[in-house]
Amino acid sequence: MINESLKIQNVVIVGTGLMGTGIAQVAIESGVNVTVVGRTEEKCNSTKAKISTGLARSAKKKFADSEETQSKYVESALANLEFATDLADINLAESDLIVEAIVENLKVKQKLFSDLERVVSDKCIFATNTSSFQLKDVSCKLGRQDNFAGLHFFNPVPAMKLVEVVRGDETSDEVYDALFSFCQRLGKTPVRCKDTPGFIVNRLLIPYLLDAMKMAERGDAEIKDIDTAMKLGTSYPMGPFELLDYIGLDTMKFIVDGWHQRYPEDEKFVPCAMLDRLVSEGKLGKKTGEGFMKYD
Ligand code: CAA
Ligand code: NAD
Repeated sequence: MINESLKIQNVVIVGTGLMGTGIAQVAIESGVNVTVVGRTEEKCNSTKAKISTGLARSAKKKFADSEETQSKYVESALANLEFATDLADINLAESDLIVEAIVENLKVKQKLFSDLERVVSDKCIFATNTSSFQLKDVSCKLGRQDNFAGLHFFNPVPAMKLVEVVRGDETSDEVYDALFSFCQRLGKTPVRCKDTPGFIVNRLLIPYLLDAMKMAERGDAEIKDIDTAMKLGTSYPMGPFELLDYIGLDTMKFIVDGWHQRYPEDEKFVPCAMLDRLVSEGKLGKKTGEGFMKYD
């Protein structure tokens, strides 16, 4: 039984990238009040446009035979959505949950949570969507640890059913249970994870993606053939290069470099030149229009 005081209704999502956008969409579709925090008005406006497109897609699927019902669905979801460019403009005292979905950089995440801790109420839960850090490293500068957990969503959030709910050493039962129920309310299937780097999925997925790049670098097979082989040979929905472009090559590089630094002796996490080159050229995958492949 969840303590009434930990019911999650007012959520702040920090980050207007792939993940912040997707998490905001599924939350407002589930009737949660969401404030998205972006760094600029421009980013907020473009995020709102992307969420509107996602909602229209979702509405079309749910109410295929009524355009009127589709419009009402989109409108009513958008009524739950607000934006801010400054934390000072948000009623943080009323926020039940803050989901951090900003760049995979430990110092930047630590600073955000430290800034937030000074202004939120005691009941507010902190969750990070980190792909690769341990919670204890993200939260190490905070006074409280019992309200801190991981909510690891998958990209594209509206389509991916899983959320890894990560429990830190000191996460309270109440907070953990509230987050588990929150994911179910969003229509997701939560799984329990301990505080290990990469949790379940990424600890298995990232070495596979790195290996695919190293295979292409060695010239053992062409990129397009590796993608075709993994799609048709294992029924994966995307080949590894398509998936790398989808995740974002900058995010992949942050993860790989971080793990290589952490486990310098582990062959699995040795970076690869192909990834470094594309990132240095600003080819970050689908989100910038080019990565391993080009996108319209
Ligand atoms: N917004 C809303 N809904 C979407 C969507 C989006 N951006 N993309 C897909 N969907 C929905 C569709 O509406 C559709 O739903 P129904 O089955 O209920 O009708 C379903 O997803 C399938 O979509 P499509 O038929 O249009 O497209 P598809 O069959 O080509 O699938 C895909 C698209 C879901 C992205 C599929 O290619 C896929 O699953 N790819 C693998 C994605 C993956 O592995 N993600 C995890 C990345 S790792 C990660 O996220 C963790 C990390 O920390 C890096
Ligand atoms: P993204 O590149 O699409 O967006 C990054 C966001 O961080 C943007 O809103 C950007 O404005 C913001 N940002 C960048 N530098 C910042 C700074 N110095 N201070 C504050 N904000 C800053 O990235 P994303 O894919 O949305 O990833 C966000 C988080 O989610 C990362 O921790 C990532 O590891 C994790 N994640 C990513 C995926 C994925 O497949 N892309 C999946 C699960 C989790």
